[in-house]
Amino acid sequence: MSKATSKKLNIAVIPGDGTGPEVVAEGLKVLKAVAALESFTYETKNFDFGGDRYLKTGDVLPAGAVDELRKFDAIFLGAVGHPDVPPGVLEKGLLLELRFQLDQYINLRPVKLLPGVETPLSGKGPADIDFVVVRENTEDMYCGVGGFLKKHTADEVATQTAIYTRKGCERCIRWAFEYTRKRNNPKGRMLTLVAKTNVLTYGHDLWWRTFQDVAKEFPDVKPDYNHVDACCMWMVKNPEYFDVIVTTNMFGDIITDLGGILQGGMGVAAGGNINPDPGGTSMFEPMGGSAPKYTGQGVINPIAAINAVAMLLEQCGQTAAADRVNRAVASVTGSKMKSQAAGKMGHSTSQIGDLVVAALV
Ligand code: IPM
Ligand code: MN
Repeated sequence: MSKATSKKLNIAVIPGDGTGPEVVAEGLKVLKAVAALESFTYETKNFDFGGDRYLKTGDVLPAGAVDELRKFDAIFLGAVGHPDVPPGVLEKGLLLELRFQLDQYINLRPVKLLPGVETPLSGKGPADIDFVVVRENTEDMYCGVGGFLKKHTADEVATQTAIYTRKGCERCIRWAFEYTRKRNNPKGRMLTLVAKTNVLTYGHDLWWRTFQDVAKEFPDVKPDYNHVDACCMWMVKNPEYFDVIVTTNMFGDIITDLGGILQGGMGVAAGGNINPDPGGTSMFEPMGGSAPKYTGQGVINPIAAINAVAMLLEQCGQTAAADRVNRAVASVTGSKMKSQAAGKMGHSTSQIGDLVVAALV
């Protein structure tokens, strides 16, 4: 928990591009209903950051925006990505910029198959697919360190450097151990480091040594290790093996898309970019993109955005409200939805929001 619980929650809302605003609206609908039931107060402020604003003004984040966002208890982000904006502009200028500037060094991505949700893994159900990935969120190849030499010639060289620091991996690994302890899995507490120590013999050696050191502070958590390639295999073959995974930024990006599909796809998967330090501002988002082709049709699945609201509430100390939302979502996926795919839910986007609200009581 990063900010006080009893005071009014101040939430910055960035609906973003494409279907972002539609799913954010359903998340806010559920937030409003659960706040009334749990008697807490909150205020939201909207920010128009995203592709449309960039095309109009030429800036992704205006001057002072980050410092304004820093004052909020949390940020609720819809999606960024616009067909008319070249790849990388919004991703780097908004999403990664906020992660870095707000030092959201944890990317928390639960992989949980909810009741009634179809997984592509045959023979596996909700009891088998229930683990959490803790992805480091500020280092690795994401730092933007690199360059070109002799660009556009036959002798061109490009570098993209992975940066790992003791501080960066230690704070993430320690948080992951603490999280594993708190999660208190009845099957046993286990934290699996996912890396590639057999090839990345400098950077991932640092991760490995740091993991061994921090593990000594947590004798009640079993330390475990998987190479990332083997981890992908096990996630498909034996997902029930995992409790909590801690991993580097790039590997975490890749394995959480695999995790997302195991839990029923991007209509369901949510994540939190967390700055756990006192006063830190965390940002919660559905993991799916802006899905421009579905914009305005009312067919996109808002469950991931509603799950993101539950994560936001949990991080802001509203645990009872978070639990209530989680239970409501599970009852809707379990008994009311035909599918989690856009256009195949058996209901419109806003009807799903209404069903979750109705299930809150
Ligand atoms: C994610 C996304 C981002 C990432 C992109 C959009 C920069 O894929 O949140 O996983 O790579 O982290
Ligand atoms: Mn990704």
